[in-house]
Amino acid sequence: MDDSKGEVTRGARALVVCPDIRGRAATTSDPAARIEEAKGLALAIGLEIAEAFAVPIREARPGTLFGEGQIDNILVQCNLHEAELVIVDGSLSAVQQRNLEEKLKRKVIDRTGLILEIFGERAATAEGRLQVELAHLDYQAGRLVRSWTHLERQRGGFGFLGGPGETQIEADRRMIRDRMARIRRELEQVRRTRGLHRERRGKAPWPVLALVGYTNAGKSTLFNQLTGAGVMAQDLLFATLDPTMRAIRLAGVDKAILSDTVGFISDLPTQLVAAFRATLEEVTAADVVIHVRDIANPETASQKAHVLDVLADLGLMEEGGFAPKVPIIEVWNKWDLLPAEQVAELLRAARQQSEDEDQLIVPLSALTGEGCEELLEAAGRLLTGDAREHLLTLEAGDGQRLAWLHAHGDVLEDVDAGEGEDHRRRLRVRLTPREWGRYCRLSEDLEG
Ligand code: GTP
Repeated sequence: MDDSKGEVTRGARALVVCPDIRGRAATTSDPAARIEEAKGLALAIGLEIAEAFAVPIREARPGTLFGEGQIDNILVQCNLHEAELVIVDGSLSAVQQRNLEEKLKRKVIDRTGLILEIFGERAATAEGRLQVELAHLDYQAGRLVRSWTHLERQRGGFGFLGGPGETQIEADRRMIRDRMARIRRELEQVRRTRGLHRERRGKAPWPVLALVGYTNAGKSTLFNQLTGAGVMAQDLLFATLDPTMRAIRLAGVDKAILSDTVGFISDLPTQLVAAFRATLEEVTAADVVIHVRDIANPETASQKAHVLDVLADLGLMEEGGFAPKVPIIEVWNKWDLLPAEQVAELLRAARQQSEDEDQLIVPLSALTGEGCEELLEAAGRLLTGDAREHLLTLEAGDGQRLAWLHAHGDVLEDVDAGEGEDHRRRLRVRLTPREWGRYCRLSEDLEG
């Protein structure tokens, strides 16, 4: 992806235009909020916002999306604010994009292109990079009228092998197809390795806590606060692209894995939804989901709805309702941004909702760390709350079971129960159903 960066120069001045299409069912209904989010996306790749505004559209023009008069106005605004490029916070067809570029005499990027640029910059792991490249190629394949991305330069860089008699577009298509096939093979390989890792972790005795949330909700900040790790946290959307895992200590739990995931966003381009599903698969293996919400954001309710939709898509909710299959802790983050009287109200609401809906809510500030202790306690309670006492007798020399129980259970008593040469031990251990299941499997393995 590196070679695409030059296309959108950091620091370039961008005019952000939000087409407000009538009758469109937008997830984020408020145009002002949409403009803010679009500005956030542009800032995320280091663009400077020259100006941002919504343009009401009664009927989308097939060739240009906007009407003639509107395009004239956008051009005036571009010149007035010295914008070098135009971001259209919506989906443009290849033809619309090309026509707008001609009329506005500037580079034009649509929402998908913009998010792809962000993903391209942020992808940190091999899998993330491959997924982004695949999504990028998929996007390009659909707009071979005139490719504006790095394809042109790659032609120079990689050597363009157009056979005689082939048209440029056919050759481009073939090149894209070949590269997509190659990337899919590489992805397969990377995924197999990751699957193995997960399998190994599945067998590992530690429970997994997955942080999820709308982009910019504060997941990475919380992750850092809880683990003391230097994971990049920035006031940029999508600062996290690949899941990051760290071990943390919880009361009553020997060790837990905290997993940070990519931020969710509404209207994610379809190519990316598919490409990033694998990244979110980590969440499906979680024992507890920690849903981080930016409670100070006016769109916090619709952001929550969107996150729950995605979790449902991932199969984490029971059919037909929003009852989660995995316990979810809702973190009401950024309360430090709210005025004191609102905080009191917030705390009351959190308590009320926790009781009414049996929803675990922890208000906190990932920035100051206030409330983090409560979160860790809540997670620890969830993981151990249903622990039961088990009375076990182990044969002499059964060091493996004994070691396992001491490592993973809460051993309340461990006494020598045999006589003479018989060194049997009697143990009283508290184990969660999950740990008990693991202990039973370990026993089966040892016996089988
Ligand atoms: P993505 O990677 O885009 O999904 O974002 P994220 O959810 O990981 O958010 P991140 O942790 O990067 O935080 C986004 C911005 O919010 C950063 O500027 C943080 O400093 C800020 N932030 C996070 N938590 C808090 C908080 O409790 N209070 C305040 N005031 N700011 C916060």
